[in-house]
Amino acid sequence: MMILGNATVATMVGGYGLIAAGAMVLDGAQVLWVGPEADLPPRFTGHRHDLGGRLVTPALIDCHSHLVFGGHRAVEFEMRLQGASYEAVARAGGGILSTVRATRAATEADLLAAALPRVDQMLAEGVTTIEIKSGYGLDIETELRMLRVARRIGVLRPVHVRTTFLGAHAIPPDYVGRPDDYLAEQAIPALHAAHAEGLVDAVDGFCEGIAFSPAQIARVFAVAQSLGLPVKLHAEQLSNLHGAALAARHGALSADHLEYLDADGAAAMADAGTVAVILPGAFYAIRETRLPPIQLLRDHDVPMAVATDCNPGTSPMTSLCLAMNMACTLFRLTPEEALLGTTTHAARALGLPDRGSIAPGQRADLAIWQASHPAELAYRIGPTPLHSRIFGGRLDA
Ligand code: NIG
Ligand code: FE
Repeated sequence: MMILGNATVATMVGGYGLIAAGAMVLDGAQVLWVGPEADLPPRFTGHRHDLGGRLVTPALIDCHSHLVFGGHRAVEFEMRLQGASYEAVARAGGGILSTVRATRAATEADLLAAALPRVDQMLAEGVTTIEIKSGYGLDIETELRMLRVARRIGVLRPVHVRTTFLGAHAIPPDYVGRPDDYLAEQAIPALHAAHAEGLVDAVDGFCEGIAFSPAQIARVFAVAQSLGLPVKLHAEQLSNLHGAALAARHGALSADHLEYLDADGAAAMADAGTVAVILPGAFYAIRETRLPPIQLLRDHDVPMAVATDCNPGTSPMTSLCLAMNMACTLFRLTPEEALLGTTTHAARALGLPDRGSIAPGQRADLAIWQASHPAELAYRIGPTPLHSRIFGGRLDA
């Protein structure tokens, strides 16, 4: 047993759930007890770490990333600054497809070497669970390679990786004008092969004019469901194709982006228990002007998660604290909503009820901060210094 005492604990149960002068008892990989230290039952004995009044939160969860990819898109960034839109760059063969070319050309070792520094930046900010999507291969071999690299990250680093198959991310050059053939000949066979290899925890798609129609996404979701895999969707990012409602009809874990979400979509998400993952890094980087309808989501009691969307095109960002800051400054989330968005609600967006709050029975994944109030995490423009991280009950300083 390990006792953490003299802590300011933000349990994130029903809000910050703040406990001043708090203590936690960890038993192996689980939290056994949390409360005011004065109430610590004497039956709990073990080494006591004095945290010097520091803030403890559940470890952070990045529930939406594309952090395995080849190359970068700095040149496209420059083009967009000269006036080209994200969609225009994509239609000219740049955008996602330029990353597809670089990813196909990269070996497993190349992809891993490029991804690990990004992962390390996340761990340095108290992250212990990261979702990683495929979707820059768009052929069977490369989609599998991306997912193998994602799994390998979870072996090489003290982090849980949840993999998401995103074969329906873009239409590759050899299938232009034939999206249904691409799904039938590449994406769906890749999903079957990846699932057979144990590489898939969930299935995602990009429902958009420059990507796949709702009917095409529904085909992919039907396959996911036949394999018993949960689904999520990039929906309503650039226009409203009613993707969120489609995702909700399939019982999706989350619908992500949502700048163009309407009231019917929000109501459908609420009914299905689908989490809204908001991605302010992408909003910021493509200089989107349409805000996601935060008040509508609040009115419908749709839980909101916040993630980096770490990817080379629309969100070259590895800082989850910065994502929280942007969610507050750009979208007017409260710092409390932002922190719920990277803890409890992020866990829900991944279908992981065993984490995201500090409570008996939860995983002992904790972040100890050089901070005294949880609003500090969203307040700084960039990371708040981390003191140490506890992953599965183990302190990794
Ligand atoms: O989440 N929207 C589609 N997918 C990514 C962008 C990927 C890219 O541009 O490389 C996103 O924004
Ligand atoms: Fe994304």
